Amino acid sequence: MNAEDLSLLALKQKPDFVETPVVRSLCERATSYLNAGYPIHFSGPAGTGKTTLAMHAAAKMGRPVALIHGDDEYGSSDLVGGQLGYRSTRVVDNFIHSVMKTEENVAKTWVDHRLTNACKYGFTVIYDEFNRSRPEANNVLLAILEERLLEMPSGRVNEGYISVHPNFRAIFTSNPEEYAGVHKTQDALLDRMITITVGQYDRETEVEITAAKSGLARADAERIVDIVREFRGLGVHQLPPTVRASIMIARVASLRGASIRSEDPIFRETCRDVLRIDAIKVTREGTPAASTWLDEILDRNCATAKNEARRRSAPARGLSLKRQELEGAEALFSGNGLQECKGFDVN
Ligand SMILES: Nc1ncnc2c1ncn2[C@@H]1O[C@H](COP(=O)(O)OP(=O)(O)OP(=O)(O)O)[C@@H](O)[C@H]1O
Ligand SMILES: [Mg+2]
Repeated sequence: MNAEDLSLLALKQKPDFVETPVVRSLCERATSYLNAGYPIHFSGPAGTGKTTLAMHAAAKMGRPVALIHGDDEYGSSDLVGGQLGYRSTRVVDNFIHSVMKTEENVAKTWVDHRLTNACKYGFTVIYDEFNRSRPEANNVLLAILEERLLEMPSGRVNEGYISVHPNFRAIFTSNPEEYAGVHKTQDALLDRMITITVGQYDRETEVEITAAKSGLARADAERIVDIVREFRGLGVHQLPPTVRASIMIARVASLRGASIRSEDPIFRETCRDVLRIDAIKVTREGTPAASTWLDEILDRNCATAKNEARRRSAPARGLSLKRQELEGAEALFSGNGLQECKGFDVN
């Protein structure tokens, strides 16, 4: 049976995969655990590189890869297989030429799904965002990972159990439990895998990724990353902007020929949209504050020398977000972003 019949991927190392010391260290940990035979699990917030790391680690295993995406609608048969195929037979009997007899039979047949094929043939499984599936759908993994046995549901003839091939490897990714549409994972499953917790990358890695994915010069990628990181640091978004925001801004700016300068209207507009400025419902005396914060951050990070001088001599705007105000409000920040901030109205 070839890879296409089993809907597998033949993953190769991507040329634009960025390997800074931080990324290399994550990859080394991941491959060493996989080589020792353990399933691994990248856990962390959105946009922290989990799927990319999983793909990279899977490519390093050098085996065909079965990719599964967690889904709330899944039952275990979506992972393992089910009575989903049809076998149709038709017999035409024209032995006596004046009599035509036809007989048609349609029977359901069992179809193995990706997890079963990976267990059988020793492939690598990436189960991306596995905690989007309900815990009971993932129960089948408990025996696969510990006893290395796949228990088949009734309906599959011949084999009640399949022994897991020694080359079978599993890589999981998950988002934090507080994310919408995510289930709590059973402790027994977590106990069977090695979890590598990932967070937002360091500046150097974000700059390298942004430059590699957009083709922009390093200095421009640095400006964009600094803007996004500073905005992230404000903590005013429920979902803080990630390296994805930097890549988006960089790619659009590059495509539209915008310069990475606070005076460039296309660049400003792209930053506004990507950073979802209009979604931040923080006002002071009825005026939206987020636009002013963005203006300040843009001016600070990428104003031309001429405008920088003008900015310094201009009177301060009333909405300016002073660090002390945010620091004073620190206790009012929660995992869901800005809840309350002294002197501002949060709607
Ligand atoms: N090492 C890397 N080299 C190149 N690009 C990377 C690297 N890590 C992450 N990226 C890029 O950063 C972006 C976010 O990465 P990725 O999709 O892997 O994050 P994630 O943690 O899986 O996010 P989510 O939880 O939202 O699925 C992608 O565009 C990806 O291509
Ligand atoms: Mg992902």
